[in-house]
Amino acid sequence: MIKLKKEVIKLLSSATGLPQEEICSGISTPPNSDMGDLSFPCFKLSKVAGNKPNEVADDVVKKIQPCIDKGSVVETVVSKGPYVNFTAKRSAMYNEMLSFAVSLKSKGFRKDPNKKNIVIDYSSPNIAKPIAFHHIRSTMIGSIIGNIFESLGYNVIRINYLGDWGTQFGKLITAFEEFGERNLLEKQGVKHLLDIYVKYHKAESPVLEEKARTWFKRMETGDEKAISYWKEFRELSIKEFNRVYDRLDVKFTNIEGESFYNNSSESLISKIDDKIGVKESEGALIVDLEAFNMPPVLLKKKDDTTLYATRDLAAAYDRMNRFSFDESLYVVAHQQELHFKQIFKVLELMDCDWFSKCKHIQFGLLHLAEGKMSTREGNVVFLEDVIDKAVILAEKAISEKNPDLENKKEVAEAIGVGSIIFGDISKRRTQDIVFNWDEILNFDGETAPYVQYTHARACSMLSKAGYGELDIKSINNYSPDDLEYELIKLILQFEDKLEEAKREYEPFVLARYVLDICRVFNRYYYQEKIIDIEDDAKRMSKLALVYSSKETIKEVLKIIGIKAPQRM
Ligand code: ARG
Repeated sequence: MIKLKKEVIKLLSSATGLPQEEICSGISTPPNSDMGDLSFPCFKLSKVAGNKPNEVADDVVKKIQPCIDKGSVVETVVSKGPYVNFTAKRSAMYNEMLSFAVSLKSKGFRKDPNKKNIVIDYSSPNIAKPIAFHHIRSTMIGSIIGNIFESLGYNVIRINYLGDWGTQFGKLITAFEEFGERNLLEKQGVKHLLDIYVKYHKAESPVLEEKARTWFKRMETGDEKAISYWKEFRELSIKEFNRVYDRLDVKFTNIEGESFYNNSSESLISKIDDKIGVKESEGALIVDLEAFNMPPVLLKKKDDTTLYATRDLAAAYDRMNRFSFDESLYVVAHQQELHFKQIFKVLELMDCDWFSKCKHIQFGLLHLAEGKMSTREGNVVFLEDVIDKAVILAEKAISEKNPDLENKKEVAEAIGVGSIIFGDISKRRTQDIVFNWDEILNFDGETAPYVQYTHARACSMLSKAGYGELDIKSINNYSPDDLEYELIKLILQFEDKLEEAKREYEPFVLARYVLDICRVFNRYYYQEKIIDIEDDAKRMSKLALVYSSKETIKEVLKIIGIKAPQRM
């Protein structure tokens, strides 16, 4: 579609005198193909010209028609009411698709570097607890947004801002001294830490609370014993987190949590005080935001210890200094909306002209439909348990559908993990999601297994046909039929869809997109007997379309972090 778009933009620009960027943002893909392949509305132009939009559209068409020559990708240009509609030469679109598929195969989709830095803070769980099920949201939405930016040529700094500092670690150390057992810690790891943390809270003991405060103070002043406890718990946690990240194939460039900023609070606070003034309120230090209808930001507690907001402010400055980012994204649940509004407001008041580059990328809640997946502690559902369950269910499905499959375990892992990831991005991120096992694992639903199965189906068709690598030279002048053309146009929307997903910070756009490709591909698969076609040239041209569909599905799956097995 890129060639068509480029040409259409040029034609429209010279016919109307409008700048290319303005035209680019005006043109769209019409919902049905009898309105052409690209469409341009003339409402704005008509206001400037003082003519009716329909007349302006007629005029534009008259100007453009003589400019369309033999080498053009455009086949026809017509006006329909206030719109100018362009239709492409199908064979040219088909050829563009083939080149696209060849480049996907050889290097994946990766635009040239644009030297822009994007910081993304995602996953960011609190240490000393297992990663909970709901963490999949920040983890995957953040990771996928990172992949989207990377594909489009940005330099992405992926930060796991661990919750590894704060009063809760004073409580944890106290709990460990009181209830902890070394052998259990070795055996159960972080789950033991959660156990004793729960015990600490159940005790509701002022004596323990006092101890906890002291321990955290000792941490903040760098006391050796306190720090060594903290280090041990932190390392243990990271080791367990990595086990989950590995299964999800999620990576970070920087693991730097709140503790990274425990020493920068003094200079930060005096900087804030110089510029906008800090206030004392009941012994605590605050920034007053009453003028902006927001509660105050707490910078320091009565006992001189720092807070979540203090560290986030220090982190924002530090990230700007180190990465001079073009955007800094915080992929965090919508419950923290106020927190980020406050932080960004303080940055604005501090005259940081970059405050508007910081964005809170929020998302809704995630529930399990069954509500009560067994957990040992309270009502936290662990992500690892959910993944395990999905994989078991996937394995069961494979045993029914394809009992002789060779690498059953590996494929079950790909489907199980995939179904959770796809479920997570199956709606716009701000919406709440309820997971239902039958739904997310349904091979005929709008799910990962459906997409993965479509990909595997294309693979098996190609291998049955003895089709190797795509060879463009052997194909010439193929004119696709209507259904084929629909598929080709979808494939050629790849870059537009990535841009849309980037603009909206919305992985769902890609989930929807790959489902659309699969839907049309499956219709194609059922309607046409491709392998049995006798005419060699025709068969090869159709197989090349199957191949291109397969490569495109695989690439979208890669960006959304889902594996594409060849066989299922
Ligand atoms: N650790 C926090 C939590 O679990 C999330 C941190 C998000 N990132 C940030 N820069 N505040 O709620």
